[in-house]
Amino acid sequence: MEIRLEQEKDYREVENLTREAFWNVYRPGCVEHYVLNQYRNNADFIPELSLVMIEEGKIIGHVMYSKASLTLDDGTEFPAWTFGPISIHPDYKRKGYGLKLLNYSIAKAREMGIGMLCMEGNIDFYKHAGFVVASTLGLHYHGEPKDAEVPYFLAQELTPGYLDGIEGTYHTPRGYFVADEHPDDFEAYDATFPERVKAVLDGQLF
Ligand SMILES: CC(C)(COP(=O)(O)OP(=O)(O)OC[C@H]1O[C@@H](n2cnc3c(N)ncnc32)[C@H](O)[C@@H]1OP(=O)(O)O)[C@@H](O)C(=O)NCCC(=O)NCCS
Repeated sequence: MEIRLEQEKDYREVENLTREAFWNVYRPGCVEHYVLNQYRNNADFIPELSLVMIEEGKIIGHVMYSKASLTLDDGTEFPAWTFGPISIHPDYKRKGYGLKLLNYSIAKAREMGIGMLCMEGNIDFYKHAGFVVASTLGLHYHGEPKDAEVPYFLAQELTPGYLDGIEGTYHTPRGYFVADEHPDDFEAYDATFPERVKAVLDGQLF
């Protein structure tokens, strides 16, 4: 198994992998491959942290990171970072690959001086990589009451002390809503991939 930087020649394969990994998981079909596709041209995208995992000569995993921010109580913006989509090909799920890729990328983010990470996800997976429910770190989630414990809003400090004295609200960066904002562009993009059946399944969020 090898983890390396994503290269331009990988883009299509990685977007297809993302589509395979997310298809019908959180909604009928998925939009995460388009989010990734569009993020590549977004100033907040961090190319040094767009990583692929190779096994048996194939790309079986990918993760991307983005700059984000926290809005402090006085209205100022405080630098934060997020990541995702993170994808492991369905044939390789639950074999430890996702955690390896995530831990590798977090170590690289820490080396780059990234102070903290926050994101939306399932604590049952992300706790293995050091994440906690973000409310325990004084962080709030947009659209939720300040005293709410939002179980899917997760965070971790990478630079010790980075969040000392900080209380702020995280807004999911706009780049993650690109498919909702441009549904026709998204449909046209998705149609360039092999046809797949959208299904309503238990556990979907949308
Ligand atoms: C989520 C994902 C990246 C995890 O990667 P993975 O290689 O399947 O996970 P790992 O084998 O490294 O999991 C390590 C541990 O995390 C936990 N875990 C992993 N996926 C989980 C899930 N979906 N639900 C609950 N716990 C999970 C388990 O404790 C697991 O250990 P176990 O299999 O021995 O019980 C991968 O399954 C995936 O691509 N899923 C579809 C896309 C997606 O949901 N991405 C994340 C969006 S936030």
